[in-house]
Amino acid sequence: MERNRWYKDMVFYQIWPRSFKDGNGDGMGDLWGVLEKLDYIQSLGCDGIWFSPIYPSPGADCGYDIADYMDIAPEFGGMEAFGQVLEGCHRRGMKLLMDLVVNHTSDEHEWFQKSRRRIEPYTDYYIWRPARPDGKLPNNWDSNFEGKAWTYDEVRGEYYLHLFAVKQPDLNMDNPLVREEVKKILRFWLDMGVDGFREDVITYISKKEGLPNDHLFPIYKGMPHYNHGPHIHEYLAEFKRDVFDHYDCFTLAEAPLVWPKQALKYIDETQGQIDMMIQFQSQCADCLFTDYLPMPFSLRRMKHAFSQWQYKLAGRAWNMLYLENHDHPRIISRYGSERYWKESGKTLAVSYLFQQGTPFLYQGQEIGMLNWQPENAEMYEDVQTRYNYAHSNLKKTEKVRLRKMWRSSRDSARTPVQWDDSANAGFTTGTPWFYVNENYREINVAAQESDPDSILHFYRKAIALRKTLKSVRYGTYRDHFPLHSKLYVYSRETEGEHLLVVCSFADKPVKMKIPRSFDLASAELLLGNYENNSSILRPYECRVYRVQQ
Ligand code: GLC
Ligand code: CA
Repeated sequence: MERNRWYKDMVFYQIWPRSFKDGNGDGMGDLWGVLEKLDYIQSLGCDGIWFSPIYPSPGADCGYDIADYMDIAPEFGGMEAFGQVLEGCHRRGMKLLMDLVVNHTSDEHEWFQKSRRRIEPYTDYYIWRPARPDGKLPNNWDSNFEGKAWTYDEVRGEYYLHLFAVKQPDLNMDNPLVREEVKKILRFWLDMGVDGFREDVITYISKKEGLPNDHLFPIYKGMPHYNHGPHIHEYLAEFKRDVFDHYDCFTLAEAPLVWPKQALKYIDETQGQIDMMIQFQSQCADCLFTDYLPMPFSLRRMKHAFSQWQYKLAGRAWNMLYLENHDHPRIISRYGSERYWKESGKTLAVSYLFQQGTPFLYQGQEIGMLNWQPENAEMYEDVQTRYNYAHSNLKKTEKVRLRKMWRSSRDSARTPVQWDDSANAGFTTGTPWFYVNENYREINVAAQESDPDSILHFYRKAIALRKTLKSVRYGTYRDHFPLHSKLYVYSRETEGEHLLVVCSFADKPVKMKIPRSFDLASAELLLGNYENNSSILRPYECRVYRVQQ
């Protein structure tokens, strides 16, 4: 079937279900809560939802450890509530994406339980290695979350590989039976009417034969041997050929370490196996490779990342655009300024919403939610944060260690959505499963609904505007002053329409700079975050201009 690339005109909203909205008062977000908010999501101008996992799971990694792929967790409302959400989305003309997590399962999944007991056909569903007489681990690989990548299983008397938490054993994708299971899962949801998948760390699924030691990487040891592994394109092509090609759906692959050239091998529109890719490069303007190696924010790095993807994918593949998701701290706290909260929140929105690609918003981003700061490390829930805190520099003071977690932890962005200024930010009538950010009295949806100048209304305006501009979908992109350390000035140009986006990332006034080719005199100001424009940009000022030729 020829792909109808409907996703190119869309804007997606990501729901991290535990913290979105509690519908039944047990303190945990759920699908009943989502049902209450579908109109709200649509009111933002979003045309689709990506759900982080909502399957049954023991919750060792907040749902990314799946115990049953073909069901919905009862605490989220089970299949019945899911059916209503799916129907509710489709009735509104919205699409629904599920999260496909098949690099690993939960250790509580039936397959693992049978595999560790060598019950056929599950014996080789996972990656097992015998214990060695010298007591050494099978190889020197690190897990991404909790120390080494191997854990000894008493039941089977062997080690299993886990690239993430101990409770997330990696599947053996080289086993054709495992690939058949994946296809079954895909068909199950697609037959139900789901519109596509976000594929969790999918670039990790093919491990190098023999699982050799890694002598290259100082951290994340092993990554060169499993990221973009030897059979990755073959397996993805198989899923496409056997499943996706038979449905009107789309796929979005998460790729932890990838550059545009390599990405094209996956997402080239004529030869690729998937439609879009989540890259991490644009998340590394204030860190080195991971949030846990922080550096000062560099606007140049941010622009460089954005621009590389804009230039190199142009005409060949489609960008996935995002500033936030459940794996990174909040963007205003990182790339913007909490002091200039409202201004920088809007500038950040404009900095990505007018690029070419399909934008994604993460819950709470549209009201400018900020990083949560716990009083002590015990309050952290996330498996990765807990491990990293325990192994952070003990010579530093507690304050410094906590500050680093604030800056890098995924929990900084996983607090409940702040709906109003009532108890628990209106997230639940019960006791919330996690802490609510104390700033909820100032930052919440209800307050911003009634303030025409709010970040929320600004997102609505920006998204609505984006949809009316053909240069946003078809135009060429250009970053005009890549070396400027305070301004991001990019244009989008197509026949008859020339768009110029100007964003200041300075906390002081700066002189506006625009390219000579842009005729400001005949330009129309379509959007901005200050009144009375002059040639001086105020702190975090942004403007979107258009010239119609
Ligand atoms: C992805 C998810 C993250 C999860 C990990 C392991 O990076 O986005 O939340 O913990 O994969 O599944
Ligand atoms: Ca609930």
